[in-house]
Amino acid sequence: MRVLSGVQSSGKLHLGNYLGALKQHVELQAEHECFYFIANYHALTTVQNADLLRQQTLDVALDYLALGLDPQKAALYRQTDLPEVCELAWILNCVTGKGLLERAVSYKDKVEKGLSASMGLFSYPVLQAADILIVSSDFVPVGKDQVQHIEMTQDIAGYFNNTFCGGEQLLKRPEARLNQAMVVPGIDGQKMSKSYGNAIDLFDTPKNTRKRIMSIVTDSTPVDAAKDPTRCNVFAILSLMAGPDELAEWERRYRAGGMGYGDAKQRVYELFEQTFGAARERRAELARDLDYVEDVLVAGAAKAHRVAEPLMDKVRTACGLATARLAPSYRLARNAVTPLRAPRG
Ligand code: TRP
Repeated sequence: MRVLSGVQSSGKLHLGNYLGALKQHVELQAEHECFYFIANYHALTTVQNADLLRQQTLDVALDYLALGLDPQKAALYRQTDLPEVCELAWILNCVTGKGLLERAVSYKDKVEKGLSASMGLFSYPVLQAADILIVSSDFVPVGKDQVQHIEMTQDIAGYFNNTFCGGEQLLKRPEARLNQAMVVPGIDGQKMSKSYGNAIDLFDTPKNTRKRIMSIVTDSTPVDAAKDPTRCNVFAILSLMAGPDELAEWERRYRAGGMGYGDAKQRVYELFEQTFGAARERRAELARDLDYVEDVLVAGAAKAHRVAEPLMDKVRTACGLATARLAPSYRLARNAVTPLRAPRG
């Protein structure tokens, strides 16, 4: 099965991004043909500062590699290194009704939050459809908030196929694969999101991470009193990180009383370090070998390109568009097929 997913380079990754997306992405590489990309064109809808966007794009690559993405197994690339994506997006724009995009919840949310209603923000789901359809993915592992975009992708593929292919499935209908039904709560109990300012970042210093975890909001039940784990933000985060036996023991301690929230927070911190401590070091090593990271991204783009180019040829033919086929940008990625060396360190 072919799998595709993407992460926007629009800020630091946090625990919610990991549990909701990257963890599954890395797990899927063992069994499927995976394409993961850094959605820097999508990020441009909100990040409009060149240095920042460059840095954040690199950051996502470092994060993926540090968290265990194996570039020998999964392709990792920058969206901008696969120019067919934008080309396909334009074509899809021409068969997609404005009404479909007006129903997009994420667009309405973003505009409500004060983002300017640019054309890029409005047609964001069309670009996302192009990301998915260009590699003919079978499924797309995403969080709940992205399901509507995958459904729109299914609709958009249908519009194209009906308009230009007599219903033949040139663009393959993808399925969403829900990463995790559960919402990851932030330190205030709302859904963890960088825009709510309640996130626990994956790659902060140990000191800042601990501070952040210690500031998870709790009620003021005294230490001695029994506590209700189902209404505790610390317990909610603990339950995402601890195994079932340990969790049962915490539940018992909550209900018995005599335990302070600080104990549970300390354990969240320990589990966090157990899970991400080594990745933090690995990330620092990779950051000292950026040539390697660049090689990974170029090789990933080349792999995606080998899938995208033949499909794009058929798409152009289907809608009567002709293109000079060997424009330099197309050759760039395709020729970059030198074998990857191992990272230093
Ligand atoms: N919209 C996704 C998000 O914000 C990122 C994304 C862009 C994506 N293109 C994609 C996810 C294609 C899956 C498939 O999380």
